[in-house]
Amino acid sequence: MGNKTIRQVKSNDIQGEKELFLQIVTDMLEYAGVLRPAPNWDLDRGGQDGGEYFQEVVLDGGVAQVNTEYQFNEHHYEEHFSSLSRMMDPWVGCTGMGTVTPENVRPYIDYLYGIDHLGLMNEYFDIDGNMKEGRLPLMVTDLGSIMDANLITSLLDGEQELLIVEVGGGYGRLAEVFINIFGPERIKYVLVDAVPASLMYSELYMKDRFPDMNVGSYYRGDDFDLEKYSCYVIPAWHFERLNKYQFDACINIQSMQEMSQNHVDYYLNLFDKVVKNEGLIYLSNEKDYVFRGTWDFPQHWQKVFQDRTPRSWTRHSPTEMFLKKSGENFDRENQLIEFMYQKQLHGYDVLAKLKEKVIQSEAVMGMLESIKLQVQDVNSSVEGVNASVEGVSALVEGVNASVLLKWKKH
Ligand SMILES: C[S@@+](CC[C@H](N)C(=O)[O-])C[C@H]1O[C@@H](n2cnc3c(N)ncnc32)[C@H](O)[C@@H]1O
Repeated sequence: MGNKTIRQVKSNDIQGEKELFLQIVTDMLEYAGVLRPAPNWDLDRGGQDGGEYFQEVVLDGGVAQVNTEYQFNEHHYEEHFSSLSRMMDPWVGCTGMGTVTPENVRPYIDYLYGIDHLGLMNEYFDIDGNMKEGRLPLMVTDLGSIMDANLITSLLDGEQELLIVEVGGGYGRLAEVFINIFGPERIKYVLVDAVPASLMYSELYMKDRFPDMNVGSYYRGDDFDLEKYSCYVIPAWHFERLNKYQFDACINIQSMQEMSQNHVDYYLNLFDKVVKNEGLIYLSNEKDYVFRGTWDFPQHWQKVFQDRTPRSWTRHSPTEMFLKKSGENFDRENQLIEFMYQKQLHGYDVLAKLKEKVIQSEAVMGMLESIKLQVQDVNSSVEGVNASVEGVSALVEGVNASVLLKWKKH
């Protein structure tokens, strides 16, 4: 293994290319068919306000938008798609965009040290989770990349050339990390997407991060030839027709969770077709977010890993790894792994209940404290009243005494 650096170039914003964007949109409208993204990722919405969409459509049972004819709108383009930074929230969320601090690294640190056969953690962090001097700053989403890279390569032969295809790779977060760690000679990374802004920025981002490497794109007229390009960007609707490769690993992270059933069915089937026998399928998705349908895994995919991870932000949020073994049936084995995962969810529920109880008892303690303060207030007013009563009594006694004196004088 080569490098232990996951980022070599300081993050800077990248401007979109409007002509390229329009070229991709036109191609999508003509050829995407059923692979056109679901409304939450389609042109109008463009992946923005995912949380709002989730609340309105999934939780409140609102009517899902339908994809409309697209009218290019300069203002909308400026606001949503005109620079890489405008897409960061849809891709990695506001938590993921945050800069790493000792506080937000805490939930990750034990987990990452536990799986870090690549030795990345020691390069970046001291034992307390402080970033080491001289390292380019990381975002929280990069901690997810350290996790993904470690998990994926724990099941792949690290000495061979690796052909990887990722569907829904965003701006190229993980592609950057793989190429940095293993080098462009060893890694051939194909980014397949259906969202015009992702197709545009992943190419621009990878070119920006690796100025000396050949990055190819369907939209530049580049051949889909991994001898020529270490990284290649291609839309989902042209991939199958042009692909001649069998891949060591197929990846989908936080992406199918925002698709429709027909997309998920299509991509799982695609992965099965293009992954090598004994190759790896790596999926990391929240299963109780926007997509709540069926995950129809082939019986010959052996599930070797299923775990809630520090990146999980909903309850049912597994990272799963499968090995394809043609001709076999893993129903029984996979049931066991699923059982272990359900036990993990049960533990998560127990912990959530405990946390709720702690919060409730903290609230009760707070109430008791405020009652105590009120009682103290009442006591001190009673004391005040007593003192005034005593004062009045003294006054009355004084008056009585003077009355007595006056009477005695008479
Ligand atoms: C939340 S982002 C995650 C990006 C990246 N995997 C990461 O974790 O940083 C979702 C990704 O899925 C892609 N996507 C959404 N709908 C898609 C679809 N129907 N087909 C292919 N990709 C899709 C988006 O363009 C984006 O790249």
